[in-house]
Amino acid sequence: MNEAIVVVGATSGIAKALCAELARDGNDLVIAGRDLEELGRQADDLRIRFQREIFVERFDALQYDGLPSFWSNCILHFPNGPTGVVVCFGYLPEQSDAQRDGAVLRQSFDVNLVSVAALMEIAAAYFEQRKSGFLAAISSVAGDRGRQSNYLYGAPKAGLSAYLQGLRNRLQPSGVHVLTIKPGFVATRMTFGRVNPKSPLLASPQRVARHICRAIRRRKNVIYTPPIWRFIMTVIRAIPETIFKRLKL
Ligand SMILES: NC(=O)c1ccc[n+]([C@@H]2O[C@H](COP(=O)([O-])OP(=O)(O)OC[C@H]3O[C@@H](n4cnc5c(N)ncnc54)[C@H](OP(=O)(O)O)[C@@H]3O)[C@@H](O)[C@H]2O)c1
Repeated sequence: MNEAIVVVGATSGIAKALCAELARDGNDLVIAGRDLEELGRQADDLRIRFQREIFVERFDALQYDGLPSFWSNCILHFPNGPTGVVVCFGYLPEQSDAQRDGAVLRQSFDVNLVSVAALMEIAAAYFEQRKSGFLAAISSVAGDRGRQSNYLYGAPKAGLSAYLQGLRNRLQPSGVHVLTIKPGFVATRMTFGRVNPKSPLLASPQRVARHICRAIRRRKNVIYTPPIWRFIMTVIRAIPETIFKRLKL
């Protein structure tokens, strides 16, 4: 692709695999996150394996005041500025903790929705003015229907999917592309101990990363990854609410 891409939340399991896929595909990267030591190791590995330009930036989703300067720093790394951004950070609280503790609930909405939208607005203004580029963010199938076991994670993800839909609609005339990524279960830190490792629905981050990379290249709007989740969620969404509210899901 030969683009200059900012990956935010680059230490996530999915993002690590995605960074490798993007670098393999010929892209230079800014990798951003909270853990600078881990990012440094990741950057060295990517440079050695793929001979691409890899820059590291510190990013904390909860430090809203730092977002404009974070984006300005990202721009400075590339002579012609970035051509795209992929937002990968996220937070899956224990549902029972979020029900009991307002701070946990707020963190879920802040990390999964508010901070993504705040960052996207800054990047969107930049790309809109240039009349090119792409914005991508990882939402979740959990946002497609509220369930008792994880609605305090699913609700901000539903908000994120709606936010991205509106952003896509706004940016269409300027030629800026917006990709919504909806993974099912992926084998990362986030699902460790929560999803049966032998489940046939548990996908590898590498598989999901290849799918995301292809979707960026083909300027897709919304992907379910792996694709089987589009079918699963169509069925789940079709269940009438009078029945759905009685299910233990
Ligand atoms: N795994 C799944 O089954 C699944 C399914 C659907 C959607 N998703 C979504 O996919 C994305 C990636 O998930 P994953 O499974 O790869 O996650 P993961 O390995 O658990 O990593 C989560 C990432 O979010 C970062 N993060 C959390 N709070 C942050 C904050 N305040 N500021 C900056 N970064 C923060 C973490 O940074 P640190 O390394 O510093 O902790 C880490 O990089 C998330 O948006 C997640 O909701 C995952």
